[in-house]
Amino acid sequence: MSLENSEKQNTPIGIFDSGVGGLSVWREIRRILPHENTIYFADSANCPYGPQPTASIIAHSEKVVNFLLEKKCKLIVVACNTATSAAIKYLREKYPIQFVGMEPAIKPAALSTQTGKIGVLATEGTIKGQHFINTKEKFARGVEVLETIGTGLVELVESGEWNTEKGNKLVGSYVNPMIDFGADRIVLGCTHYPFLKELIAEIVGEKAKILNPAPAVAKRVHSVLKEQNILSRAYTKPSHEFYGSGSLESLKKLVSLLEIEPFSFPNKNGN
Ligand code: DGL
Repeated sequence: MSLENSEKQNTPIGIFDSGVGGLSVWREIRRILPHENTIYFADSANCPYGPQPTASIIAHSEKVVNFLLEKKCKLIVVACNTATSAAIKYLREKYPIQFVGMEPAIKPAALSTQTGKIGVLATEGTIKGQHFINTKEKFARGVEVLETIGTGLVELVESGEWNTEKGNKLVGSYVNPMIDFGADRIVLGCTHYPFLKELIAEIVGEKAKILNPAPAVAKRVHSVLKEQNILSRAYTKPSHEFYGSGSLESLKKLVSLLEIEPFSFPNKNGN
């Protein structure tokens, strides 16, 4: 093994999102890679990414990646569907580091639907992005897809107040039409949405299964680290650091809900 790899083994995995949504990916990574150190960055000052032009999303992502590279991350997870769609190709061409991005779970939804109809809930950037269009063409042939832009859902999760009458109403306004359409699979195409899974499940009941791609992304992180021989060799408790470009309040709230231990918020922001 080269010295470079042995040095990399104990450096952290970098994970970023426009806000707290990527924590839904972070928790799956921690579940299957409990010895890895992590650094999470929430770009809340620029959230939401969804309605922004591609060039802005690339610029925001680049800034965050520079920060994570300064922190010596060995691999970077773009834990945001919108940023994956807009920026991952650019990032892969620019930086000599491995990136793992989000995949909308269209393939498992299309393979398992009984009604031949699936619903996809995502941001505007994701639904209009080429990556989504290609994935749909490749895997959803012969299946009817109802695509819905979840306007306001990212903000709802960022506010931490989704278990409310207002939250329930907003989620219902997107999910009920999918059930009326006949969808028996609902794809969560934005990393913020798994936090709304219980709310969605209450609305759809037995009528539809909800698909979250985060566990598959965590598995991909594991296999890339293994292939490159840079899995952590540490037996001590890992450290988890959280940074953000804006207010860290929502992040702190969710981190405490997820019972992340030990964690630290080294400073107000990552700049
Ligand atoms: N969590 C991001 C995603 O998966 C949210 C994007 C946004 O900020 O609009 O797309």
